[in-house]
Amino acid sequence: MNSSTSPSADQSARDSHVSQFISLTCQRGAENALKKEMAKRRPNYRFSYSRPGFLTYKLPNPESLDKRLAIDVGALRLVFARSCSHALGAVLQRDAAGDDEQFDRRVAADAVWNIVERELGDDSITVREARRAGKEAPTIARIHVYERDRFETGARGFEPGLTPVAFDVHRLLLETAPEKLRANFGANFERLDAPAAANELCLDVALVEENEWRVGVHRASDVHSRYPGGLIPIPLPTDAVSRAYLKFEEGLRWANFPIGVGARCVDIGAAPGGGSQALLARGAETFGVDPAEMDPLLLAHPNFTHLRGRVSQLKRKLFRKARWFITDMNVAPNYTLDALEELVARDDVAARGLLFTLKLFDWKLADHIPEYLARVKSWGFNVVKARQLLFNRQEIMVAALKKPFRK
Ligand SMILES: C[S@@+](CC[C@H](N)C(=O)[O-])C[C@H]1O[C@@H](n2cnc3c(N)ncnc32)[C@H](O)[C@@H]1O
Repeated sequence: MNSSTSPSADQSARDSHVSQFISLTCQRGAENALKKEMAKRRPNYRFSYSRPGFLTYKLPNPESLDKRLAIDVGALRLVFARSCSHALGAVLQRDAAGDDEQFDRRVAADAVWNIVERELGDDSITVREARRAGKEAPTIARIHVYERDRFETGARGFEPGLTPVAFDVHRLLLETAPEKLRANFGANFERLDAPAAANELCLDVALVEENEWRVGVHRASDVHSRYPGGLIPIPLPTDAVSRAYLKFEEGLRWANFPIGVGARCVDIGAAPGGGSQALLARGAETFGVDPAEMDPLLLAHPNFTHLRGRVSQLKRKLFRKARWFITDMNVAPNYTLDALEELVARDDVAARGLLFTLKLFDWKLADHIPEYLARVKSWGFNVVKARQLLFNRQEIMVAALKKPFRK
């Protein structure tokens, strides 16, 4: 068939009349905020199904796999989604009943590979379309397995992360993977917690219920998408003085600010010091502002200085050389923004980047996120993004950067 007679991959996808769906995961409790965002960003996607922490949407028009894979959390500009996967199929009780009629994970693993063969194998519509369009057939580079969150973050000590069940199912999928697929797997494919390389195609197996697995694919792009379900494994170091270490460590990886040895940072509301520890671990010179006591570990650190008091009580010249500001204060979003504005929106402080939490004491505050971000932009930060990170509870993280930066 020459190119003038061969339909494009997009045209074929439309002609095949197959419904296409995306699955999104989020923190438990954030589903409504995510639904509202989706209604704004993609009003033509139809909400289809949800469980706490897991939502699916039907795409308005069937698209080629390439186009589908370009749709991700970043492209959708979602604050509350943790991961986005393009559905291939589902493994339910009837597909995986063992001899005792119970859901058998090994049978389910085989069913996953059958779905992959049906949807992405040599005879699949997707692969035939790709070939017809002169493109390479998609190859899976690694397997991502994740459970939807079992509890709200913080409830019963729950922290989102890769679970023993996810590791077990990953092992079963590796054991049952067809040899011809295994040959294309990427580096460290056998480790569930190893990051995917940029652009690798990941097979997603979302464990929605004990007897309901949702199978899909996504292409690795930003830092979260490189880990199963966006669950970046960040262990709490034994010497971490607060849980805030986790959210700032995750936030710094997500923001990807060039904070290295000697970078001058200010942590507003620093006590007891977990956030400052994430900065100090990068070699930054860190000034912690807080009327409260800092942990002695921080006070003993050669690169840490405690500026005791409320930020409004301190002289501005103390901040003249600082370039990076982080803050995590237990106050309403507009108070956090007032405090930051006071500090960084004037000429005598040359802030290059900000990383801060906004507490959503009431979920209704989520409706105001666009206004909050517009306010930060008005201070001269041209790259501003927000996301509910894994280690954020009922709050979001905002990263703001001046790019390029001129003092
Ligand atoms: C949630 S804690 C911060 C946790 C800390 N970032 C960490 O990493 O361990 C909030 C802190 O903000 C401080 N705070 C509240 N208002 C402040 C202000 N106006 N200036 C400086 N610190 C403030 C409080 O004293 C409190 O220690």
